Amino acid sequence: MHAVASREESITVRRLDLEVGEETPTYWFDDNQYLTALLNGLAITFPPGERFFIRSVKHFMAGIDDPKLTERVRAFTGQEAMHTKEHLTFNRFLDGRGFPAKAMEDFVTRRIGKIQSESTPAANLARTAALEHFTAILATALLEHPEILDRMDPAVAKLWAWHAIEEIEHRSVAFDVYKEAVDDEELRLRMMRVTTIIFLLANIVRTHILIKASPRPFDARRALGAVKTLFGRRGLLRKIGPRYLAYYRKDFHPSELEADELLDRAKAEYLQEVA
Ligand SMILES: [Fe+2]
Ligand SMILES: [Fe+2]
Repeated sequence: MHAVASREESITVRRLDLEVGEETPTYWFDDNQYLTALLNGLAITFPPGERFFIRSVKHFMAGIDDPKLTERVRAFTGQEAMHTKEHLTFNRFLDGRGFPAKAMEDFVTRRIGKIQSESTPAANLARTAALEHFTAILATALLEHPEILDRMDPAVAKLWAWHAIEEIEHRSVAFDVYKEAVDDEELRLRMMRVTTIIFLLANIVRTHILIKASPRPFDARRALGAVKTLFGRRGLLRKIGPRYLAYYRKDFHPSELEADELLDRAKAEYLQEVA
């Protein structure tokens, strides 16, 4: 029923060297302040979030003796470290446009630090696996809609496409480390429930803060356009529900998200000159 990905997983660490500057529009997503705020809010969390993922996974590496898994973790941390680097550049671009990206990023860093220090390593790894499922299904949704990526500024679209491709490539790594080192089913599902609530609420709050920080007045046409882009008949989030719920199945594995063709197409389109 649930086909496993047909191709051997390959995780490639690539440099991007993001090019954002004066010519990049402030409302880089379709000149729409709402869509731009939503993705800016998500982008702000990446540097602290991805450092947390790396720490959470690395904690268990001493006890892993499968050389293949060790190699995959190395590639995973390489990719996440690159994402952090490029998203720091992007977040400083947001500061330059008058958005409080640095303050929000620092807040997320402190929150994550507190959660991490008050939780067990197993719970932190379960949170990482849950958030990696979120990023994988969101990345898949994005790459399935090249017509939506086309509405972004090309340099920023490339950042999101590159990040999405690599999130899909390494989607099973944190999960497999969890299965190998912890494998507590009740904890895995509980942490997904907790993480879902925090993830949704925090994204709503961040989007709200960033819309408030924008000098543009309320615009009903663009607000409706944002709702359609996300939830419309051909919207970005249409297929998210069942893919999210799959995580709660006992036999779930992230590789069941079929992505070979999607990755091939996206790599050809966006990663031509990325080393
Ligand atoms: Fe990432
Ligand atoms: Fe990731």
